[in-house]
Amino acid sequence: MLKIRNVKNLDGTISDLNIENGEAQTIDAEGRLMRLPGLIDPHVHVRTPGSEYKEDWKTFSQAAIRGGVTRVFDMPNNNPPCVNLKNLKLKKEIIDAQLSEVGIPLRYDLYFGANSDSLEDIGKVKDEVIGLKIYMGSSTGGLVMDADEALNRAFQLAGQENILVAVHAEDESILQANMKKYGNTTDPSVHSIIRSREAAISATKQAIALAEKYGTRLLICHTTTKEEIEIIKKAKKNGVLVYCEVSTHHLFLNIDDYEHLKTLALVNPPLRDKSDCEALWKGIESGVVDFIGTDHAPHTLEEKMRPYGKAPSGMPGVETLLPLLLNAYHENKITLEKIVNLTRINIEQIFGLQRTQDYVLVDLEMSKEVQISELKTKCGWSPFSGRVLKGWPVYTILQGKVYRC
Ligand code: NCD
Ligand code: ZN
Ligand code: ZN
Ligand code: ZN
Repeated sequence: MLKIRNVKNLDGTISDLNIENGEAQTIDAEGRLMRLPGLIDPHVHVRTPGSEYKEDWKTFSQAAIRGGVTRVFDMPNNNPPCVNLKNLKLKKEIIDAQLSEVGIPLRYDLYFGANSDSLEDIGKVKDEVIGLKIYMGSSTGGLVMDADEALNRAFQLAGQENILVAVHAEDESILQANMKKYGNTTDPSVHSIIRSREAAISATKQAIALAEKYGTRLLICHTTTKEEIEIIKKAKKNGVLVYCEVSTHHLFLNIDDYEHLKTLALVNPPLRDKSDCEALWKGIESGVVDFIGTDHAPHTLEEKMRPYGKAPSGMPGVETLLPLLLNAYHENKITLEKIVNLTRINIEQIFGLQRTQDYVLVDLEMSKEVQISELKTKCGWSPFSGRVLKGWPVYTILQGKVYRC
């Protein structure tokens, strides 16, 4: 049995926590460490198979544990992409082998990618995947589905099979037109102009209309604009089954950060201005935002330092998710209850997951700088490096095993 003595609960009381099937060990939390449920990160891109030089499940699982994350949903934009039964099985085999090699039984679920061929296999894979991922506009990897006919078919099929559709909502035709217009600009901040708010708003509207038409459960991934928050709020009121995810970098970075991050700041959808940031925080407060994901999308520093147009979009995040949120708690931007709801409870409910006995013990008063040398992610950098954050995970408890963060 795993015994955690004198652990602080959310309500401030102190008690012992016993995990029956856990390893034989006792930890004393000294009334100081607080127990939160282990986090679920519902949006990550571990690069297996195909781009293991950026990240694999051996490095990623260590990074997750270090961040207090005990379950993740992984995206399908791999090489080969996860778009048929064969690739799905192959991907699972590789992941399981890598996790067992490092002895970290990280819980994971996989998204199935939508392309013109993959829809035939939906019926076959629906019980094995967490949802269907549609890239309405192109991002990293070649998966994109923007034709009206294909989108209608995908939403209809998913509705029939009762599989959740998660969308990367950016309008491909708007992106293409803007790229022609601004394509020669070298200032990385042009990214936020090319991948305009109109592109995001237009695709989000279209996805919601399709979800309404076919009764499909819909998730808007990495929502960025205040308009989208309003649109999603209205749709929810009208009974559309739409959920809203916000990414950590869109909460804690904005277009001003191009100045010091340069091409490291590139991400899809792009960083927006401060007022959008604030609208996302308001969306959290009002309950429009259902959960927070990191969109952990590692690329190597060498790749990220290439000039604009050659540098890929995406940034790592799984290790900084919880410290950023705990720091925001100290700044009175969010309550601890909200953090728990947005990183675990709501995700469990929406995806119908079983409760687990996974926890993270945090030291709310620990102040520490985000340091590259401590990161476990293979890509070895963070857009938040140098920030001093207050509130850090100390132990992660996963499937009855204790890990030092
Ligand atoms: C992601 C990636 O690199 O896989 N990049 C990103 O900028 N967010 C893909 C995605 O989520 O769109
Ligand atoms: Zn995306
Ligand atoms: Zn993503
Ligand atoms: Zn405090």
